[in-house]
This record gives sequence, C-alpha cells and structure tokens, in this order.
Amino acid sequence: MTGFMLYYLTAFLASSAVAPSNVGIQGVAGQYLLGLGIADITGPVVETNMMGYASLAQTDTGLHMRQRTRAFIIGEEDTPANRIVFINADIAMGDTGVRRSIVANLTALFPGIYTNDNIAFVGTHAHSGVGGYLENLLPQLTSLGYVAETANAIVQGTVLAVQRAHDSLAPGNLSLGNTTVLNANTNRSPSAYLANPAEERAMYEFDQDKDLTLLRFDDTNGNARGFLSFFAVHGTSLYENNTLISGDNKGMAAYLYESMVEPNSLPGNNTFIAGFTQANVGDTSPNTLGAFCESPGQPFDGMPCDFNTSTCGGTVEDCHGRGPGFRISDFASNQIIGQLQVDGAQTVMNANNRSTISGSVRSVHVYLEMANHTFTLPNGTSVQTCPAAMGFSFAGGTTDGPGAFDFIQGDNASMPQNPFWEIVACQFPKPILLNTGYADLPYQWSPSTVDIQMLRVGQFVMLIVPGELTTMSGRRLREAVRAELISSGVIGEDAYVVVAGPANTYSHYIATLEEYSVQRYEGASTIYGQYTLDAYIDKYTSLVPFIADTVTGTPASDAAPPELTSAAISLQSPVVFDAPPLFSSFGDVQVDVSSTPYQAGQTVFAAFVGANPRNNLRLEGTFLTVDQLVSGEWQIFRTDSHPSTTYNWVQTNTILGTSQVNLTWTIEDGTASGTYRFRYFGDAKPLIGDITSFTGQSSNFTVS
Ligand SMILES: *[C@@H]1O[C@H](CO)[C@@H](O)[C@H](O)[C@H]1NC(C)=O
Ligand SMILES: *[C@@H]1O[C@H](CO)[C@@H](O)[C@H](O)[C@H]1NC(C)=O
Ligand SMILES: *[C@@H]1O[C@H](CO)[C@@H](O)[C@H](O)[C@H]1NC(C)=O
Ligand SMILES: *[C@@H]1O[C@H](CO)[C@@H](O)[C@H](O)[C@H]1NC(C)=O
Ligand SMILES: *[C@@H]1O[C@H](CO)[C@@H](O)[C@H](O)[C@H]1NC(C)=O
Ligand SMILES: *[C@@H]1O[C@H](CO)[C@@H](O)[C@H](O)[C@H]1NC(C)=O
Ligand SMILES: *[C@@H]1O[C@H](CO)[C@@H](O)[C@H](O)[C@H]1NC(C)=O
Ligand SMILES: *[C@@H]1O[C@H](CO)[C@@H](O)[C@H](O)[C@H]1NC(C)=O
Ligand SMILES: *[C@@H]1O[C@H](CO)[C@@H](O)[C@H](O)[C@H]1NC(C)=O
Ligand SMILES: *[C@@H]1O[C@H](CO)[C@@H](O)[C@H](O)[C@H]1NC(C)=O
Ligand SMILES: *[C@@H]1O[C@H](CO)[C@@H](O)[C@H](O)[C@H]1NC(C)=O
Ligand SMILES: *[C@@H]1O[C@H](CO)[C@@H](O)[C@H](O)[C@H]1NC(C)=O
Repeated sequence: MTGFMLYYLTAFLASSAVAPSNVGIQGVAGQYLLGLGIADITGPVVETNMMGYASLAQTDTGLHMRQRTRAFIIGEEDTPANRIVFINADIAMGDTGVRRSIVANLTALFPGIYTNDNIAFVGTHAHSGVGGYLENLLPQLTSLGYVAETANAIVQGTVLAVQRAHDSLAPGNLSLGNTTVLNANTNRSPSAYLANPAEERAMYEFDQDKDLTLLRFDDTNGNARGFLSFFAVHGTSLYENNTLISGDNKGMAAYLYESMVEPNSLPGNNTFIAGFTQANVGDTSPNTLGAFCESPGQPFDGMPCDFNTSTCGGTVEDCHGRGPGFRISDFASNQIIGQLQVDGAQTVMNANNRSTISGSVRSVHVYLEMANHTFTLPNGTSVQTCPAAMGFSFAGGTTDGPGAFDFIQGDNASMPQNPFWEIVACQFPKPILLNTGYADLPYQWSPSTVDIQMLRVGQFVMLIVPGELTTMSGRRLREAVRAELISSGVIGEDAYVVVAGPANTYSHYIATLEEYSVQRYEGASTIYGQYTLDAYIDKYTSLVPFIADTVTGTPASDAAPPELTSAAISLQSPVVFDAPPLFSSFGDVQVDVSSTPYQAGQTVFAAFVGANPRNNLRLEGTFLTVDQLVSGEWQIFRTDSHPSTTYNWVQTNTILGTSQVNLTWTIEDGTASGTYRFRYFGDAKPLIGDITSFTGQSSNFTVS
C-alpha cells in the first residue's frame, strides 16, 4: 500500500470517528482529555538536498533513522472544544506553507476542533532531515528548489500523527518538573553572549540553559502515556558531511526513550510517545568539546579556533565543533547527546516533586508583519523592525557548519552546479543576496510575516516562536511573559513559561540587541534588525489577556502571508527508469553476508541489485528488515529506522539505470544468538508502465 493510499484510508476512518470520540467522557476522574500519536514523515532519502546546513554538496544517499512527527493533544475535560495540539516534528524548522497544508487538512477532517489558532507546528531543528519543503526561496537555493515529495511526506505524516493522537483521546492528568542536564550543550558564540550586560549574566550560572523541563502525560490510573520535554541544543550532532537521513540527537533521544519503555515495539509502532522539543536553540551547540582547527600541515592544526571569530588562520572553513564522541564518530556523539536528554527526561518522569497542572486550556495565534513593524519599547521610545536582510557573517556559517551559504560571498565557482541559481541570478544582474526582504523575484526569499502563538495549559505556558532565540533572548522573552502573566492576574506565582521553536514559520535567528551589535552568525542572521527580539517581547506580552480564563474579543492580526507553494519552482528531475544489470533481477544479492558466525559489535553487510527509493517512500514501512528465526518462524527484528542499521543507495550507471543498495546492521550487545537474514524492499520504475515492488533476501547468517 502506498503512503498516499494509507493516508486517505486513515483520513476516512478518522473523519468518521470524530463524533464518538468526543462525547460521553464527562465525569471520569482526571483533569484533561489527552491524546498522543506518532507517524512517519520521511521524504525522499536519496538525490535530495538535506535541510539544515544549507550545503549544496549535502545530498542524501540513504537512511540512518526515519523522521517522525509526534503529536500531543490536550483538551479541557469539561469543555473539549478548548484544546491544543502540539506537533513536534523531526525537521529543521516549521514552515508557513507546510503548516498551511497541515491546518487545511486538519480543519477539513475535524471542523471546529483543530484550528489555525490551536495547532502549533514545531521543528526539532534536526540538520540531517530531507530538504526542499520550505516555501520561501532562500532555503530552497541549495535544494534545487521546492521538493513537493518532502513537503507532502511531512504534511501527510503529521496529519496521521494528529489523527492517531485524536483517536487515542482519553481522560488523564498532567504534571510538570525540571532537572539540570549537564554536558549536553555548549555556547558556540560565547563572545556574543559576553556582550550582554554583566548584571544580567550574573543572574545565571551558565551561558546556556541547562534545564530540561518536562510535561508528563498520565492516564487516570497514573500510568505514563508519554511526555513533552523542552531542552535547548542544536540538532547538529551529525556533521555536514553525513548524507544519511536521521532525526539527529532529539530524534535519537525519542527513539531511545520509546524503545526503553516498549522494547518489543518496532520504531514508530509504539504507544508511549516521548517528545523532545527544541527551545532557545540559537547559540547552542551539541559539540561540547569545543571548536578546533582541522588544518593539516598548518601550525594551528588541532588548536582551538579564534575565540571571537571562530576562524583558523583567518578563514572559517577549517573550524569544526567536536562532539563528545569525536574520537569515534559523529554518530557516537549523536547517541551520547541523545542519551543525556533521555537521562534528564527519565529523572523528571521518576521524580516525586513534580507539580500538578490545573486550569484552563487556551491558545492564541496572530500573524505579525515584521518587515516594518513599529512599536514602543518599555522606555517609551518608538522603534521599528526592518525588511529581512542577512548580514555578512551569515555567510560565514558556524562552528557546527562552517561556511554555510558561502556561495553568496561572491565566489560563484560552485554556482554552475546549481541550475536554480541561474534563474535567480538572471533576475538579479547584480545580486543583492543579503537584502532578502526586498527580494521577491521569482518569489519571496525570506518571510516578512511570522506566526506569533501561545499555548496555555493551567499554569504552564508554551511560547511557540518562529525562529531561533539565543539563550539570553529566550530568557528575556520567558521572563517578560511570565511577569506579565502574573502582574495581569492571568496566572499566579506558579506561572511556568517555556519556549519552543523554530516553529510555524522560519525567520532565522533572534539575538539580543547587545548580541546583534557583535554580529556573529546569530546576530547577522537576526533578519528583521536590532529590535527583532524586542518586537517579539512586545507582541507576546500583549497577547497575554487572550489566554486568560475568561477571554473577551479576538486579538488584532496582520494579514496571513501570501501562498507561495503553488508558484514554487522545482528543478529536481524525476526518476527516469530503473533496470537491473544484464542477467540479473531486482533484489538479487550482489554481496552476500558471511557464513562465518558474527559477534556483537561486528557489522553485517549485504548488497543488492537496487532501484531508486524515490519510487516509493514506504512511509510507515521500511526499506529493509533484519529478520530473526524464532521457533522456525521469521520475525522482523530490525527495520531501517533502528539506529543500528543503515540503508545506502547508489546509482551505478545513469544511462543503463542500474543501482546498488547496501545494507548494514551493527549487532547490538545482548543480541540473542541464533539465525538471522536481511531482506531488502524495493520499488522499480520501468521505462514504460507501472512501478512494481520487489523483495531481495540475503543468505541466513548466525550471531553467536
Ligand atoms: C492536504 O495537504 C496536501 C499537501 O500534502 C494538500 O495538497 C491538500 O490540499 C490538503 N488538503 C486539504 C483538504 O486542504
Ligand atoms: C524548575 O522548577 C522549579 C520549581 O517549579 C522552578 O522554581 C524553577 O524556576 C524551574 N526552573 C526553570 C529553569 O524554569
Ligand atoms: C525535583 O527532583 C529532581 C529529581 O530528583 C531534581 O533534579 C530537581 O532539581 C527537583 N526540583 C526541585 C524544584 O526541587
Ligand atoms: C573578543 O570579544 C570580547 C567580548 O566581546 C571583547 O571584549 C574582546 O575585545 C574581543 N577581542 C578581540 C581580539 O577582538
Ligand atoms: C487526576 O487529577 C484529578 C483532579 O485533580 C484527581 O482527582 C485525580 O486523583 C488525579 N488522578 C491521578 C491518577 O493522579
Ligand atoms: C566529517 O567531518 C568531520 C568534521 O570535519 C571530520 O572529522 C570527519 O572525518 C568527516 N568524516 C568523513 C567521513 O569525511
Ligand atoms: C504494531 O503494534 C500493534 C499493536 O500495538 C501490532 O498489532 C502490530 O502487529 C505491530 N506492527 C508491527 C509492524 O510490528
Ligand atoms: C515603515 O513604516 C513607517 C511608519 O509606519 C513609515 O513611515 C515608513 O515609510 C515605512 N518604511 C518602509 C521601508 O516601508
Ligand atoms: C530606549 O531604549 C533604546 C534601546 O536600548 C535606546 O536606544 C533608547 O535610547 C532608549 N530611550 C530612552 C528615552 O532612554
Ligand atoms: C561569476 O563570475 C564571473 C567571472 O568572475 C562573472 O563574470 C560573473 O558575473 C559572476 N556571476 C555572478 C552571478 O556573480
Ligand atoms: C556499497 O558497497 C560497495 C561494495 O559492494 C562499495 O564499493 C560502495 O562504496 C558502497 N556504496 C555505498 C553508497 O555505501
Ligand atoms: C534459512 O533458514 C530457513 C529456516 O530455517 C530455511 O528454511 C532456509 O532453507 C535457510 N536458507 C538457507 C539458504 O540455508
């Protein structure tokens, strides 16, 4: 069954179930109506640019772990119409166009229940997901424009996750706690942080937030159904030179937690849902060992990069952040940073000091035109934001991904590789690449209208932010909103505020005024100018009355941003055809497993006659299994979403249409001895006719 068919079938089933799941639940013990769901959102895993580093060279070649959406619904038990849906997706950032489709699908399926106001679409900021889904032009530059398959996979999977959450709605309780997680993040722009006032910095122990906040979801018996956690760390554990699709450290954390609770469930088939949400991520890095020069032959090779400029010998290219697993691999770092977040979440899940959540469920959403927004600072001065522009340092990238977008510095040597560039260049004989706010040919480069949204559950308030707040920006925004909640009497002294993002639309970074003056990457990427953060503080605090127990009226909103997706240019060529090499068939084994028994820690390898996986994304499915022989029956033991397996596809001859698929499984400690095999699931496109599925199978092998 294709993803599309599954999607429409499930859509039909869910829509016919709307009414029954909402009636007759009153009077059961438990404070809220809770629903949790998960679904697969993985777009094309080959021949597509990856989203995050904005590197033209980073084209995907296979799969490490599938990307998932995890959806969390909270409703008032007595008034179920008062509800919110928090969507946590393993993607780099939310997007206006994708959110528009999600909202349209959900409002059509559940009229009056899920709305533009109460749906929050939050990205984990993973940098190893499939690219091409963003509506604005700038992020499309490296991905050969818009990739509809990526956007559709995210929309369909997210809608499915929300449907599953909706179908699971049941009364339950919520509780809140936090803990300190050390060694999982570090500040990658400490020199910019130091520009913040000394007395403000003195209020905090670290130059990063080390607290993980967790909202626990229980059923009426007090059994945990899952959680939403908030912790700030960039999704850049996997480096820019990785080409396997993955959820990076938060996707890994979610998998590790879910498989700990349900060890016998395959990834994505779990009912306990672990949400690892991104917070004020702007200047955070998971590369906790620091940034060093990788400059073989230079005197500064292996030395720390320059503190203020993150350069090695004057250039950014060689300066690389190192994760805790640096000596092994970035995948090892990814697992360590994921596990640290798991440990923090588990601490709060098991703690006996969590506070009970009680009170109203509310949401508020407005659009804010940021290109020229005039507002008054607390000191009475009227200021305005500016049309979006990228500063020069934006091109310098960060120590997590040096030289991102470096092709915009004027060195156009790499441009001819990218036909999309030619189109843009022809619109701009003298490319004013950095003034993206004025660049709307062929269509808008950067958004000028953003989503401002707040969700409230009792004393807990989630600020859904359309960009990457730096550490101090996040603190200022949270503190300002909390103070307003308390002073206006909307919530008492127990008001607890978190930030989540990048969400809904992507407007790059949000640095403080002082950090902005330093113009490191985060300041340079604060696209609406020096008052960007203050504009958000002004707007979010002004919306506090709209999440009160009693709300009168609706807030003023700017117009929704224009729809751009239908005009989006896509230059990714479709799959032409697949063919097996002469005298062989799709799925034939090219390199077989070994007949010598394997031990834990070893990697099993097999290669097959392949076909392009873009022919069928196999959403909710798998491109591979490791099967285990149990009492004479084969059982699925591992899928393509287990981090211990990899799927690699390589085109061996473009003219003949031949390709090879490589599968690996690194045997985990504790794996039962016995007989195993690989299966490979492919879909081939003939020159004429329909795409057909096939299966390949390795020889049996033993683990001893
Ligand atoms: C649902 O989303 C898809 C994009 O995946 C879009 O084409 C379609 O129009 C949406 N459906 C509705 C009812 O809006
Ligand atoms: C952690 O929780 C405690 C108790 O609610 C609260 O006082 C503290 O401010 C919280 N920490 C953060 C960073 O929110
Ligand atoms: C609650 O308990 C956890 C786990 O013991 C601890 O990390 C946290 O600091 C405690 N919070 C407060 C506010 O005491
Ligand atoms: C580095 O940044 C710090 C803090 O912003 C500043 O005090 C110092 O002068 C800078 N050093 C250099 C060499 O620019
Ligand atoms: C859930 O919350 C309700 C209302 O506060 C309370 O009566 C009930 O005991 C709680 N249930 C559990 C299992 O904690
Ligand atoms: C990927 O990049 C990192 C950081 O520069 C480097 O240490 C590592 O060797 C690279 N890996 C490969 C496979 O090239
Ligand atoms: C997924 O879980 C359900 C039960 O929750 C089970 O019936 C089904 O077989 C599982 N699917 C797979 C592929 O394991
Ligand atoms: C911005 O708005 C102000 C006041 O609304 C107006 O005077 C100014 O011309 C506008 N600037 C731009 C660039 O649109
Ligand atoms: C208000 O604050 C802004 C930003 O810090 C500053 O530029 C301005 O001079 C201040 N105005 C007054 C009247 O103090
Ligand atoms: C690219 O470089 C060539 C040679 O220096 C120059 O003629 C051309 O104008 C440049 N193109 C752009 C778009 O900057
Ligand atoms: C696949 O395996 C072959 C060995 O059969 C190796 O030469 C090739 O580099 C591998 N390709 C990928 C993309 O892993
Ligand atoms: C693999 O094991 C299965 C189940 O025991 C058996 O039927 C099959 O013949 C074996 N295949 C090979 C090639 O030995």
